[in-house]
Amino acid sequence: MTRDFSLSPSILNSDLTRLHESLQMLEEAQVEYVHLDVMDGRFVPNISIGVPVVASVRAATRLPLDVHLMIDEPERYISQFVEAGANILTVHVEATRHPHRALQAIREAGARSGLALNPGTPMSHAIELLSIADLILVMSVNPGFGGQTFIPTTMDRLRTLRSAIDEGDFHTLIEVDGGVSAANAREIAEAGADILVSGTAIFGADDGVVAAVQRIRNTVSGD
Ligand code: DX5
Ligand code: ZN
Repeated sequence: MTRDFSLSPSILNSDLTRLHESLQMLEEAQVEYVHLDVMDGRFVPNISIGVPVVASVRAATRLPLDVHLMIDEPERYISQFVEAGANILTVHVEATRHPHRALQAIREAGARSGLALNPGTPMSHAIELLSIADLILVMSVNPGFGGQTFIPTTMDRLRTLRSAIDEGDFHTLIEVDGGVSAANAREIAEAGADILVSGTAIFGADDGVVAAVQRIRNTVSGD
């Protein structure tokens, strides 16, 4: 059985000089979200984009913005990113002492609340917060860089989380981020994911963004 799923392409490894064109291609491909990776050089070793780029993307597309904060003490920036246009704002449980409070603040600021877990973080940390999280982002690579290999133990973690959400009758969505491609998308969706993030497999595809999106959709639906 395949579940309904959405795609949230990550622009991290796209050609940022052609951001507007990339967003138009994503709209043409009818993806459900755009995934924006914010990195501070402390929580993760890499530095990427910040509030001004999120605001520019907001002005350039009607697609919902799925903003993934890989920054320490993310609560300091919640209102800025929501004002810049984030529709989903995700913080890492490892990056804040007060994840419950951060998730509540995201909802109060007017966005959907997301909680991300690194591959080594027990799934119980997410399960404890399902009532306040609109989305759990399960990292399937160590955060910081695009183009890494999917960590296979993620599959069991997804099944654990899926069961907890279904058994508790929560409405929380499951998002998977890192190393997702047409080669593994079906298995990931079957393990319980609602939203698949994909960067390299979409923006690195020789035949272009629209074809790459279609390829992932086809593998999940079994065509
Ligand atoms: C990694 C980021 C991901 C990344 C995904 O830290 O959170 O969103 O851009 O890229 P791929 O699909 O190349 O793993
Ligand atoms: Zn991400």
